[in-house]
Amino acid sequence: MGGNNGSALSGGVIANREGISWATKDVQQANYFGSLTQASTIQVGSFNGQEIYASFKSILPMVTFICFEMTLSDDVVFGEWDISNMNLADDMARANVFDIDLQKKLRPYMESMVPFPANQGSRANNVIKGTKKEQVDQIIKDIRQFKENNKVDKVVVLWTANTERYSSVVVGLNDTMENLFASVDRNEAEISPSTLYAIACILENVPFINGSPQNTFVPGLIDLAIKRNTLIGGDDFKSGQTKMKSVLVYFLVGAGIKPTSIVSYNHLGNTDGMNLSAPQTFCSKEISKSNVVDDMVSSNAILYEPGEHPDHVVVIKYVPYVGDSKRAMDEYTSEIFMGGRNTIVLHNTCEDSLLAAPIILDLVLLAEISIRIQLKAEGEGKFHSFHPVATILTYLTKAPLVPPGTPMVIALSKQRAMLENILRACVGLALENNMILEYK
Ligand SMILES: NC(=O)c1ccc[n+]([C@@H]2O[C@H](COP(=O)([O-])OP(=O)(O)OC[C@H]3O[C@@H](n4cnc5c(N)ncnc54)[C@H](O)[C@@H]3O)[C@@H](O)[C@H]2O)c1
Repeated sequence: MGGNNGSALSGGVIANREGISWATKDVQQANYFGSLTQASTIQVGSFNGQEIYASFKSILPMVTFICFEMTLSDDVVFGEWDISNMNLADDMARANVFDIDLQKKLRPYMESMVPFPANQGSRANNVIKGTKKEQVDQIIKDIRQFKENNKVDKVVVLWTANTERYSSVVVGLNDTMENLFASVDRNEAEISPSTLYAIACILENVPFINGSPQNTFVPGLIDLAIKRNTLIGGDDFKSGQTKMKSVLVYFLVGAGIKPTSIVSYNHLGNTDGMNLSAPQTFCSKEISKSNVVDDMVSSNAILYEPGEHPDHVVVIKYVPYVGDSKRAMDEYTSEIFMGGRNTIVLHNTCEDSLLAAPIILDLVLLAEISIRIQLKAEGEGKFHSFHPVATILTYLTKAPLVPPGTPMVIALSKQRAMLENILRACVGLALENNMILEYK
């Protein structure tokens, strides 16, 4: 919670709760723009030739009122681990995502908020001591204590800490639940900090969402989540470039146009950018960004031979001066009619953490609602919950984790339609098929 994303989320939620406004060139008012649950709508029908929309959050009962540990008791309470012991007001100032006037107004609310010690990190001054097994035990204690102190019914944990390097997946080390537990007991270095948090959460039946690109969910962990029937979701927030890619490539391939080369450059200057400039962590990001066009390409056998793919390259560079204001430049080259070429170039300048923070909120709220939904197929005797590997969150994640044997759907409009139709089904609204037959 002490990072750019975490402090932007905390500050944003407080500003909304307190109705804070602040001055830039104009007076700005707190909002939840960019949050699917808080700022988007769903079409619920049509009347007299007009489509009727309702807010996303009004379709099903969702938790909405948000507050912080040690403040008013309300629907949602935030708690945090961080390897740095800075309070959230100082974190917000270090991150420098918000305008200065807003930072001043938020400071009194955030000064008293300090994280639990966390597990790992060379520049860390707030760490859990002990073996990996002891760290898991401590995280479990923290979750229980948090639950008890705040009298909450449910806890959802989300990783928005730094990207870790990819863990090696090795038979006997982390390939099954039993081997993963044995490796934790042996204090194996290859078991990553994020995997330790995830193990602790699953053992406590607490949903765990991974907002970063690394493979926290090694096979042994997925095995554990399935056996314990505890929700896991990930990987990596889908905030900017990848979201655009999953829209644009779906459009191009759907239009019968053949993308042949997709090249994406990014530069950014926040600590995430610095961290990703190390080859090992960049590799995690590269992998998570690499498969985002696969389902669209394989959907069109007229354009692509079996196994054929567009060239797809991703570059990320650290440029301190631009801070949190990330630049994403993409070039899409496609083949069109009769040997023609079509090149689209996009240049996107965006404040990275202000895109990510609303997604964090959505992931937590959707995870919470998804564990309340029960379903059964025709002929099945009992209702059951969704598969513990949470496909319902895929609209918000870059490299969606899906249950074994499930199609990997990346096209953004399909992911959104899935989510929307699940909400509609829950309240008995017909699924949206966009046929508009009533007007034909
Ligand atoms: N648009 C986006 O901002 C975006 C999109 C997708 C993914 N992400 C991912 O989100 C993550 C966070 O991004 P950020 O910009 O907030 O980074 P940041 O460096 O500002 O913050 C990370 C925080 O995590 C803490 N931390 C590190 N290791 C920890 C551990 N083991 N336990 C607890 N805390 C730990 C750090 O002290 C720091 O406060 C990164 O992995 C990034 O790749 C961000």
